[in-house]
Amino acid sequence: MASSVVKVAIIGGTGLSSFSGLDWCDSHRPETPFGSPSAGVAEGKYRGNTVLFLPRHGGEHSIAPHKINYRANIAALKALGVSHILAVNAVGGLAPDMGPHALVVPDQIIDYSSGRENSFFDGVGGPLDHIDFTDPYDVDARQGLLLAAQKCGIESVDGGVYGCTQGPRLETAAEIRRFRQDGCDLVGMTGMPEACLAREVGIKYASLCLVVNWGAGLTEEKITLDDIHRVMASGMDQVKRVLLQSIEQ
Ligand code: HPA
Repeated sequence: MASSVVKVAIIGGTGLSSFSGLDWCDSHRPETPFGSPSAGVAEGKYRGNTVLFLPRHGGEHSIAPHKINYRANIAALKALGVSHILAVNAVGGLAPDMGPHALVVPDQIIDYSSGRENSFFDGVGGPLDHIDFTDPYDVDARQGLLLAAQKCGIESVDGGVYGCTQGPRLETAAEIRRFRQDGCDLVGMTGMPEACLAREVGIKYASLCLVVNWGAGLTEEKITLDDIHRVMASGMDQVKRVLLQSIEQ
């Protein structure tokens, strides 16, 4: 992504509240018309490129998916001059090739969340506008993640439909069956409205999803947090390698 107009921010999700191994030299917490972002935005350098990092759930991982101030987060990154966001999402897997440990770069979204402030264009103190959201993720940023995974020798899945639920509870088996019928391959709680807010302010946005469990009812075993954390602990290292490679290339 090396270019003078590129400024990349990583939004870390569950399992990635901090990003060790990178030289973080500064921190910003811009106030926005929508309030404060989830945490200070760390700024560092990687191979000559400026990188920003914002943990979506806060530095202590204490903000639930439905309580995240998505508008403040995106407005803060925009104010800091960010051109690209690489978002990390821990998700449940629904498609047969998207079981625990899979890394997926989704290409579509179905939004089942509700009651979230999901637009800057709400007609209050600003213009009313309608973005094109046919392809919710930036095509080049997606390709960058896939190429980075390939260069790292890490398997990844190209494409998939991310279903965004309200959370914070996991789903019922019937909900997962319905999502599958709708065409969802993954289920998570934080993909929206983050993606559409980024589009509204012209930030190129792609997501790297780590599957940490099968969707509810797809296996005999109950979903346990212990199992989820075990998958996260082993998978986040790969996620970080792919992100850094993507920023470098
Ligand atoms: N459902 C919704 N969100 C999730 C899941 C899930 O099974 N796993 C991780 N995030």
